[in-house]
Amino acid sequence: MTKLSVNINKIATLRNSRGGSNPDVVKAAVDAQLFGADGVTVHPRPDERHIRYQDVRNIKKIITTEFNIEGNCREQKFIDLVLEVKPHQVTLVPDAEGQLTSDHGWDTITHADYLRETIQIFRKAGIRVSIFVDPMVEMVNGAAETGTDRIELYTEGYAREFLTDKERAVAPYRAAAIRANELGLGINAGHDLDLKNLAYFAQNVPGLLEVSIGHALISDALYLGYENTIQLYKRQLA
Ligand code: PXP
Repeated sequence: MTKLSVNINKIATLRNSRGGSNPDVVKAAVDAQLFGADGVTVHPRPDERHIRYQDVRNIKKIITTEFNIEGNCREQKFIDLVLEVKPHQVTLVPDAEGQLTSDHGWDTITHADYLRETIQIFRKAGIRVSIFVDPMVEMVNGAAETGTDRIELYTEGYAREFLTDKERAVAPYRAAAIRANELGLGINAGHDLDLKNLAYFAQNVPGLLEVSIGHALISDALYLGYENTIQLYKRQLA
């Protein structure tokens, strides 16, 4: 069954808007696992405008489910944090500085050498590595050459096209996943997945191991409650 990792960056954004510690991001992480999530994801950015580096340390101390840290590995600060905290998984994202949200995957061919070296740093520390990629077979082929354990398929395009033609929307993801399975790469996915588009994605992408979901899940929780929302997302993956 596909695992659900809850990205709690939005809770930190809400907290930061007022200073102080409400809502409590460590509690949000603990509650996510209590309410049935299989993991927690955080995405520390260099300016710490969402999750702060100290939050990441605090969360690692207390959660027992899978911890996934995603971010821009061009920042030495990010590499140092991940090596210090030692999460179960690190997801490498090619963000530019100040980027609003991640909006593209790695070009695994152009950046093959860089990725190979960086991935080794984390793998040597016993941390599983996933790299964010667009749903293109050539990028999956390139990923396999980097030594990564997994790829995370960038699903913004799927979410957009799902509204008009879901079969067309999922087709490149399915093709990318079939290739990743042939190459022995694990498959994660994330970005703009929600209660409407998640089940169809999970049913049509073979070997999908994990999805990480933040924005829609936390938004739904405002209306449906945090515990109920996590359960509803889990049910989409059953
Ligand atoms: N995966 C990556 C690499 C991301 O950067 C994000 C957003 O922080 C997500 C998944 C989750 O996307 P969303 O917040 O749209 O669910």
